[in-house]
Formats: sequence, structure tokens, C-alpha cells
Amino acid sequence: MTASYVSGLFSLDGRTALVTGGSSGIGRAIAGALARAGARTVVVARREAELAETVHELAADGCEAAWVSGDLGSRAGIRAAAEAAAAVYGEPDILVNSAGINLRPPLGELGDDVWDATMAVNLEAPFLLGQRFGPGMAERGFGRLIHISSQQAHRAFVQSGAYGVSKGAVESLARSQAEAWSAHGVTANTLVPGFVLTPLNRRLWDDAEKTAELAGRTMVGRNGLPEDFAGAAVFLASAASGYVTGQSICVDGGFSVH
Ligand SMILES: NC(=O)c1ccc[n+]([C@@H]2O[C@H](COP(=O)([O-])OP(=O)(O)OC[C@H]3O[C@@H](n4cnc5c(N)ncnc54)[C@H](OP(=O)(O)O)[C@@H]3O)[C@@H](O)[C@H]2O)c1
Repeated sequence: MTASYVSGLFSLDGRTALVTGGSSGIGRAIAGALARAGARTVVVARREAELAETVHELAADGCEAAWVSGDLGSRAGIRAAAEAAAAVYGEPDILVNSAGINLRPPLGELGDDVWDATMAVNLEAPFLLGQRFGPGMAERGFGRLIHISSQQAHRAFVQSGAYGVSKGAVESLARSQAEAWSAHGVTANTLVPGFVLTPLNRRLWDDAEKTAELAGRTMVGRNGLPEDFAGAAVFLASAASGYVTGQSICVDGGFSVH
């Protein structure tokens, strides 16, 4: 009884998921969580070795998973990756946009190149993938669009530059998507991390003072781990969250409310 009750809420059996950035950090943990909860899962990123290793790990756990190498840094690349990913298991029911880059020149030194690169991966990919898959989800009566933003969507610090702008826009994109498709069973929400040690911020790995200072800004008393996103992602991908839409949900150990 308990198992079937829990699985009625959270099981992703029969669902198909596409996770961009699913080969590293937060995206990899989310892809693992969705796959282990039952979703056939396709991970998309550029580097093949990391993608293959991720899928190998999931397959060894008995999951159905596959990878597509694609560059989300251009509109053509985004569209090509979308088609290649949908060709594996069919149209996705769940789209997670975790691919992201954080280039850090201060705004005064920021050129068009950094702006364009940031907006392509962090904002245009979530937008275009939503345009590609959202209408089909709405037609089928079920869909889950999940974005990853940042504390810098809400406040500027450590040179938020173009990155903070892109993340603020992603939270607005989720609200626009929620407005467009929620009445048809498609929810759109954003997970907002605190500071998570991943390859994205490798430059801080050896800076014990800085990472301790960031941990001190949480209430839990430590920095985030990719695995901290597993439960929230399964919740947002599952039937359980059908009445949660347009929201930004902080998974940050209390960083944002400290
Ligand atoms: N770590 C944090 O503290 C933190 C905090 C707030 C928000 N976030 C957000 O969380 C998300 C995941 O970050 P993470 O920390 O897990 O970073 P990560 O470990 O560096 O992972 C980034 C992923 O994005 C992929 N990617 C980057 N550029 C791409 C491109 N042009 N085309 C396709 N894929 C691309 C990478 O694979 P390839 O390089 O192989 O393409 C990788 O799989 C990002 O949106 C980030 O902004 C992270």
C-alpha cells in the first residue's frame, strides 16, 4: 500500500525525459534521479566521453538511458540536438534545462561575444526547446518543463554580468511557459541552487576560505551537492507536482533566506 501510494505520486515509469547538461554536476544528478525513478532519459551535452560515462553508470543501475552530443551554443545546434534527442525514445514528457555557462567579465568589460554565448546556452536553449516540446506536451495533456537558475537571478554578486541576466530571464520564461500551457497539464518551474561544487566553479575548488565562507551563508551549514537536487527534480517531474507551476524553488540550504 505504502509503495503503491508513493509510486502513484512520484513514479516516472513510462515517461521520457530529456536533460540538457545531463553529463555533469547538477544535470547529471537530476538525469540519474529521473532515470532511477523510471523515466527513459536522454542526456544532451557536447563532450562525448562524459555523456557515455553517465549513460554507462545509469545502464549499470538498470536504467534506460541514452546520450546525444550537441552544441546548444547556437540556434541551429539547439534545433539539431532537439531532433536527435527526440529520435531516441520519442517526444519527451519531461524537459530539464541544466546546461549552462558562467563567464565572468564584469559588465563594464563584457563584449557582445560573451553576451551572445551566455544567452544562447542559458536562455535561448531553454526557450527554443520549450517551443519545440511544449505544444506537444500540451496536446498529450502532460508535460514538465524544469529550469535551473541561480541566486544571481535575484541579486548581483561575484560579477553577475550576463549570467545573472540570463538566469533572471529563465525564471520569467518559466512563468510565461506556465501561463501558456499549465491548463493543458504542462507545468513549468525553476530550481534555484545556492553554491554547489561542480566543474562550473572549478576555480573555487582549492579556495577553502571562500568555500567555507559560502557554506557559512547557508542555514544547513554546508555547500550544495548535485545529489541535493534529486528529490526536488523527481517531485517537479512527477504527477505529485501537478498543481505547482510558474514557481522558483530554492534548493540552497537556506542561502537565500539567511
Ligand atoms: N554549481 C553551482 O553552484 C550553480 C549555482 C547556480 C546555478 N547553477 C546552474 O546549474 C546548471 C548546471 O550547472 P553545473 O554546476 O552542474 O555545471 P557543470 O557541471 O559545468 O555542467 C554544465 C553542463 O552543461 C553542458 N554544456 C555547457 N555548455 C554547453 C553547450 N554549449 N552545449 C551543450 N551542453 C553544454 C556541459 O557539458 P559539455 O561541456 O560537455 O557541453 C555540462 O554537462 C547551470 O545552468 C548553472 O548555471 C549552478
